[in-house]
Amino acid sequence: MSGTPAERVGELRRLIAAANRAYYVDDAPTVDDSVYDDWMRELEALEAEHPELAASDSPTRTVGAAVGQAVAVGDSATAAVAPGQRFPTVRHRQPMLSLANARGPQELEAWHRRLVARLSDEGLAGRPLRFVVEPKIDGLAVTLTYEDGVFTQGATRGDGAVGEDVTANLRTIAGIPSALAGAAGARPPALVEVRGEVYLPLAAFADLNERRARAGERTFVNPRNSAAGSLRQLDVAEVARRPLAIWCYGFGAVVGLVLGRHWDALGWLREAGFPVSPEVTLHEDLAGAAAACAAWEERRAAVDFDIDGAVVKVDDFAARERLGSVGRAPRWAIAYKFAPTTATTLLKDIPVNVGRTGAVVPYAVLDPVSVGGATVTFATLHNQDDVARKGLLIGDTVIVQRAGDVIPQVVGPLTEARTGDETPFVMPTACPACSTDLVQPPDEVQYRCPNRSCPAQLVGGIEHFASRGALDIEGLGEKRVQLFYDLGLVRTFADIYRLAGRRDEVLAIERFGERSVDNLLAAIEASKERPWERVLYGLGIRHVGEVTAQAIAAVVPTLDDLLAADAERLAEAEGVGPVVAESVREFLGSEANIALLEDLRAAGLRTVSDAPAAPREGGPLAGLSVVITGALDAYTRDEAKRAVVAAGGKAVGSVSRNTAMLVAGADPGSKLAKAESLGVPVVDGDAFTEILAGRRPVPGAAEGQEDGAAPADD
Ligand code: IVH
Repeated sequence: MSGTPAERVGELRRLIAAANRAYYVDDAPTVDDSVYDDWMRELEALEAEHPELAASDSPTRTVGAAVGQAVAVGDSATAAVAPGQRFPTVRHRQPMLSLANARGPQELEAWHRRLVARLSDEGLAGRPLRFVVEPKIDGLAVTLTYEDGVFTQGATRGDGAVGEDVTANLRTIAGIPSALAGAAGARPPALVEVRGEVYLPLAAFADLNERRARAGERTFVNPRNSAAGSLRQLDVAEVARRPLAIWCYGFGAVVGLVLGRHWDALGWLREAGFPVSPEVTLHEDLAGAAAACAAWEERRAAVDFDIDGAVVKVDDFAARERLGSVGRAPRWAIAYKFAPTTATTLLKDIPVNVGRTGAVVPYAVLDPVSVGGATVTFATLHNQDDVARKGLLIGDTVIVQRAGDVIPQVVGPLTEARTGDETPFVMPTACPACSTDLVQPPDEVQYRCPNRSCPAQLVGGIEHFASRGALDIEGLGEKRVQLFYDLGLVRTFADIYRLAGRRDEVLAIERFGERSVDNLLAAIEASKERPWERVLYGLGIRHVGEVTAQAIAAVVPTLDDLLAADAERLAEAEGVGPVVAESVREFLGSEANIALLEDLRAAGLRTVSDAPAAPREGGPLAGLSVVITGALDAYTRDEAKRAVVAAGGKAVGSVSRNTAMLVAGADPGSKLAKAESLGVPVVDGDAFTEILAGRRPVPGAAEGQEDGAAPADD
């Protein structure tokens, strides 16, 4: 655990927010579900233990991620999508909640004990509790609004409170009725919101990926991402070509329909024409529900959709009402998570890969094996210590695990299966790509290739630049980058933008037809519209990930600002410490890098940010940098920051001589001392409120304004 509980809580909230964004907005998960669950549990525990650290916008109380700009461009299979274009937002009449997890039967029983105890506190002791068990479909939650029996609007979950209006896309899904059928249609309720999960059947997923691979397009990592990407396509015709399906499992807001039980609600949905899984079951007690969960775990690979667990729901709506919800999840339902799936196979070899940072990473080459429904051929081994810790020998029979359904892992060897012919892994002494002697920097486990012009690193860097979170150049994946590199067509990021002038040379490459070349060139052209922070991320500066790049772009909103920034200025960015600042400075210390940046500017890439709200002119904090520290009574940290921005100021992470004012709450820590030593004015929470309201001047405002912290100049 790092630092104080408050620091750890902050850290966990940041990690979870970044993971949420990657999962819900970018459809490109960055961490395993199990890691995410661990973070969430740790955060919940800390918040329970330290109520003073609770915040209404904590990820334990909210769901998912706010819908954002990146959404519509995330999966633009057609170049016709205008960058930045997106779906209108919709505020849900009833929040779309999430589910707490039970990992295994014991946690399921613990959940049940809590239910029973709570219901007896509510005076409902002894009432028999029935349960419904449903598959937990790994897709994308949607809400479908029917007014007077007619489908009027459909939306994604978004952050649980506000989603995206994807009505037109949902209309392409065969299972979604345009009007309620049967008795429900004859006497339709004034309003029902039907909740369900959109998914791509596994066979359709395989087909889609095959088509995309043939067309030289990026393939989807898993069916969930493909469903999410497909539903958020701006081109309805393209959505219609993807055979999305839906299972419905509940209601949101309802007017004019009274039902007492979930089981009856599912019956009503079926009759009204909605697809409800025929495999949903009703149980008289928890033992029955637990057995159903175990049965689902057994046969998860036998159904035509990905499931990542089973959902156990209290049947009786009156009991649900009494149970209510806690934070982001109802108490009356729980997701029973399956144990990670494992299989055994032969570890054929352990070669090494050289990544874009020069890190030399061993990986496992396996006899292809099916694990939890996916074929696994490779698995990362991180570093030589990982290989040693797991006790792996080449030729071993190994246990392979797919946790969180995304990243396969080698757990360890079956030593009893050894024949004596197994051989140990030896870290090569020279880089497999450029033969340079590898080095192991002190304090690092990883070996590195020190050659900055190592082809493996250059190729990895270009791949990163073109990747989804960065410049997102559809059709410029690993294989093509390697090919263009080998042919000498692309050796730097800027070369990518010179391809348009070398169209004939690209066309001359085997398997490149007019259409695929034009698609690629269009995707390259479109990437010029990516925001500055993504260009910054794409540069692949060490320690500058997506979140850090956004934070840096907020303090240096243009390329010129970046070139002029000293370490102190960079350190004003949220989450940027001396190591990151030094790494950025080092990058900028190279003439070749400066030339590269100028080339990119000349190519027409965006070098000016439009992300941070330009300081509101005339706001009480216009043009001022403000640092918040310690706990404020009237604001959570995020609320305080938003208030600063709304007042025209800039909320920055650390105190410098450019800081106009430090707002210090309880337990302010080292920032207070630093502010005092630099002569930065310090105010408390009450004074902050007064300043925001314009009832009190900013102390020493005139000096602060002269002192830099200039508004974004675009
Ligand atoms: S019930 C308030 N039932 O899982 C109840 N959700 O972690 C919340 N999901 O957002 C939804 N299958 O995307 C429910 N049979 C099922 C489900 C299901 C998949 C998803 C849904 C939800 C998430 C909650």
